Amino acid sequence: MPLLRAKRSLRATVFATLLLSGTALAPAASAAATPLYKNPHAPVSVRVQDLMARMTLDDKIGQMTEAERQAATPAQSATARLGSILSGGGSTPTPNTPQGWADMVDAYQRAATSTGLGIPIVYGADTVHGHNNVYGATVFPHNIGLGAANDPRLVEKIGAVTASEAAATGVKWGFAPCLCVARDDRWGRTYESFGEIPRNAVANSVIIEGMQGRSLADRTSIMATAKHFIGDGGTTGGVDQGDTQISLEELRRIHLPPFRAAVEHGVGSVMISFNSWNGVKDHGNKFLITDLLKGELHFGGYVISDWDGINQIDGQPGFTAAEVSQAVNAGIDMVMVPYDYQKFIDTLRAEVQNGHVPMSRIDDANRRILTKKFQLGLFEHPYTDRSQQKDFGSAAHRAVARQAVRESQVLLKNSHGVLPLAKKDNKIFVAGKNANDMGNQAGGWTLTWQGQSGERVIPGTTILDGIRSGAGKGTEVTYDRAGDGIDASYEVAVAVVGETPYAEGQGDRPGGLGLDAEDVALLGKLKASGVPLVVVTVSGRPLDIAAELPSIDGLVAAWLPGSEGAGVADVLYGDYNPTGRLSFTWPRSSAQEPINVGDGQQALFPYGYGLSYRRH
Ligand code: GLC
Repeated sequence: MPLLRAKRSLRATVFATLLLSGTALAPAASAAATPLYKNPHAPVSVRVQDLMARMTLDDKIGQMTEAERQAATPAQSATARLGSILSGGGSTPTPNTPQGWADMVDAYQRAATSTGLGIPIVYGADTVHGHNNVYGATVFPHNIGLGAANDPRLVEKIGAVTASEAAATGVKWGFAPCLCVARDDRWGRTYESFGEIPRNAVANSVIIEGMQGRSLADRTSIMATAKHFIGDGGTTGGVDQGDTQISLEELRRIHLPPFRAAVEHGVGSVMISFNSWNGVKDHGNKFLITDLLKGELHFGGYVISDWDGINQIDGQPGFTAAEVSQAVNAGIDMVMVPYDYQKFIDTLRAEVQNGHVPMSRIDDANRRILTKKFQLGLFEHPYTDRSQQKDFGSAAHRAVARQAVRESQVLLKNSHGVLPLAKKDNKIFVAGKNANDMGNQAGGWTLTWQGQSGERVIPGTTILDGIRSGAGKGTEVTYDRAGDGIDASYEVAVAVVGETPYAEGQGDRPGGLGLDAEDVALLGKLKASGVPLVVVTVSGRPLDIAAELPSIDGLVAAWLPGSEGAGVADVLYGDYNPTGRLSFTWPRSSAQEPINVGDGQQALFPYGYGLSYRRH
């Protein structure tokens, strides 16, 4: 046992002995009145031990249960002794404001801390590109853009801002970062990946340090979640929740390094992946969860299942007693049920009582969960610290996001120096469905699970806003989504095209990655005008644009920039000289998928590619 751990253990033992004998460290009267686990000066391990000694089996099973907020009221949550409540994507209180969230979370905490042992819940939500469920949050570029930015220090800052905005609403647990290594761009979650090889996720796993801060108990810190363990980005055909049919050697080489890095960053939780590995669902795989993650990687936090994830183990709808015991025995500590929480509790209780799940497994899970709750400071501060709400969506936070947008832009083509755009005495025609649409530029996981199109669905700046506000003296900017009105009087046309929002499997594109009919028609119309053409792709992945490329003079991959679309214009005008580099190989054709660096295929633009402006 390392020296530091030995010293901690000795200290804890000495402390407990002294305190329990009432001979030191606290006045005898208060020591008797205040249970040891409620003593903030006691070592966490001692508090956990004392609390667990007071817990019933139902108390312990409750801690291992997470329900969706729509499934349990605060009173029901307290009665079931639930350990956690979550907001699934788009599950928001009314009003959907920081105050509304804090009131909601605090109601659950009031109920939880009013029970006998008063164990607070921990509230979880998907903070995957900011606190994206909440209206008015700063919404950052999705991970695919941050991978192209290749600026881990900035990403750490993004983690800190995200945590500050989440903690201000009472959410002390973020289901992020996704450390998936997306190998097939047809996968609907490609944009949640930092890049196609592990180094991108490894480098950007530092976001965990930003989220968790110096201490989980800091009022601006939240607990991070490394997800999804393991192999979600490696499924055959890029099928979401599909089968990752690779050797253990390839699993270790491609998909494991980001989780090793996450553990080294002290990540508090790990979420298990829906996919199978060679035909076996991860949610039931003890080798992966217990031997690999908890054993070999020495992960000391707790493992959460994904949404209804244990239901998939036997391939049939719903969960059975066998699935519950297999998942818990595999090493899952907390189960995101999310609705049938009472059935889960009753089933797990029966599986313990009939010996299928040993009490040692229940105790290990509770030790892990309660350790994090003590470290989060939830016993001392169960209610939301609303002092941070003044900074929610602040200009300073948005400035961080705008810098991330700038750095994530990848300049892929710049014929005849069509870029940067002249600010003065110019005549710019802007077109395309993604030029003036906050919803499309933010992508999935924004206000709702799937995201949604809409010019102003969230506050911020569209790409067109940025082009307009960046225009200087004597410059005229015209916008028409369909390109109607384009003529030879314009100096340049900027077409902002690409994808509309999606999340998870609904974003799978087995049929190909080409532009949609609207975009193809638009580019044809603009090209026919003879005006120099700049194309900006707003998408969650590389798109199949080889056919259109010859008629494009300037090409910028903007990815999913989030709420600060003006950062794209900063690059178009040259206020920021593009530094982005592809963290995904850009295919010559969808038929090449999966296509990844080093596989010998001829890409349209290779991994690591990106241009900058030549400064005259
Ligand atoms: C989803 C996702 C996971 C998310 C969870 C809670 O199905 O797979 O990434 O954290 O459910 O919303």
